[in-house]
Amino acid sequence: MSVSEHGVLDIHVDRYARRALMSRESENAALFAARGRADIVSLSGGMPDLGALKKSSLAEHTARVIRMGGQISLQYGSPQGMPKLREQICDVMALEGIVAKPGDIVITPGSQLGLDLVTRLFCDPGDVVLVEAPSYVGALEVFAACEAQVEHVEIDASGLRPEALVAALSALSAAGRRAKFLYTVPNFQNPAGVTLDLARRDAVVSICRDHGVLIVEDNPYGLLGLDGRTYPALRSLDAENVVYLGSFSKILAPGLRVGWVLAPPVVRERLVRSASAVTLCPPTLNQAIVSHYLAAEDWKAQIEDYRDVYRRRRDTMLAALAGHMPRGCGWSHPQGGFFVWLTLPEGMDSRALVAHATNRGVTFVPGTAFYGNGNGSAHARVAYSYADPERMTTGIRRLAAAMQDLQKEQV
Ligand SMILES: Cc1ncc(COP(=O)(O)O)c(C=O)c1O
Repeated sequence: MSVSEHGVLDIHVDRYARRALMSRESENAALFAARGRADIVSLSGGMPDLGALKKSSLAEHTARVIRMGGQISLQYGSPQGMPKLREQICDVMALEGIVAKPGDIVITPGSQLGLDLVTRLFCDPGDVVLVEAPSYVGALEVFAACEAQVEHVEIDASGLRPEALVAALSALSAAGRRAKFLYTVPNFQNPAGVTLDLARRDAVVSICRDHGVLIVEDNPYGLLGLDGRTYPALRSLDAENVVYLGSFSKILAPGLRVGWVLAPPVVRERLVRSASAVTLCPPTLNQAIVSHYLAAEDWKAQIEDYRDVYRRRRDTMLAALAGHMPRGCGWSHPQGGFFVWLTLPEGMDSRALVAHATNRGVTFVPGTAFYGNGNGSAHARVAYSYADPERMTTGIRRLAAAMQDLQKEQV
């Protein structure tokens, strides 16, 4: 009898491709599982608060796009994405110093698929990808599914450490290996909340160029700096050696699944071919909705509204942490994005904390989800983007109680 890794009867278990067996248990699925339960406060999923979104105007654009332009918006489209939307995306990226041609953009159903396509384009099984320590769980899932080997590079409060990057590259070359690319989230990083220092941006770009390592820059939070500050994208510093991933998920709505890849022409051509093989074309209707919205609405004001919401949420979370966390617990003070990164009291394991937290009625993500090597047990990620301020404070109080439960169990 064939039994899967979860002890469930599975007559197909001997048939799966090797890469299917390599893929990580989806932490994302676990994160979203508690979402619908009223008794549990979810501080785990990094979901935007759509309360600030002007939904009725989006509904009007949707109706107009179907009524007036349905012959096009409900039809198959270009595998590269709508030309008009690609032009508008150039205006969005210009806010972070990027000068780009619409022809070098490939629209994808979410930037997640963009990362998947880029990884498949560059990585054979066993190839090395450098990532921050910690790194975005969804990216680690892509790399595992592509059978890439992940090597973590240390970060600090100013983002990726250039010396650590050089050390990682030297260690690889001493072992006769090289990294295919560096995957980095330079702004308001998920999960650690840190932002790459300006001086370090130049350093990271030139180190990667000198060592022949491509940079894959993932930037969903760059316009969500809570003081309104933006930073020059790595892509604005090097157009040839950076593949840039962008997304409307956090500045508009994730359910639209509209993201993009900006790549040098040679890479972009290959990406269009592989994107076409996977999706035929990105969702035409959703692209048309986003394009109409960008043309007709004050989208910069919408981003400002989101920033206002998240600034208040961030402040509520930091106040709740200061008021409730036990001695020995530390946390980041993010200037943007969705997340606070906790350092647990000495000796506490975040995986052991999960069960106690669920008993107390709160969820968070254990730090181990953000490492490909089992590290991270001393950390936890909590999101301030989704729970309303009252629930968030309740959630942090429950998390503090769960930590005390675990501490009592351990003495
Ligand atoms: C760093 C990072 N990259 C990519 C994504 C996914 O973006 P999209 O919704 O465009 O697929 C997320 C979502 O949480 C993220 O945090």
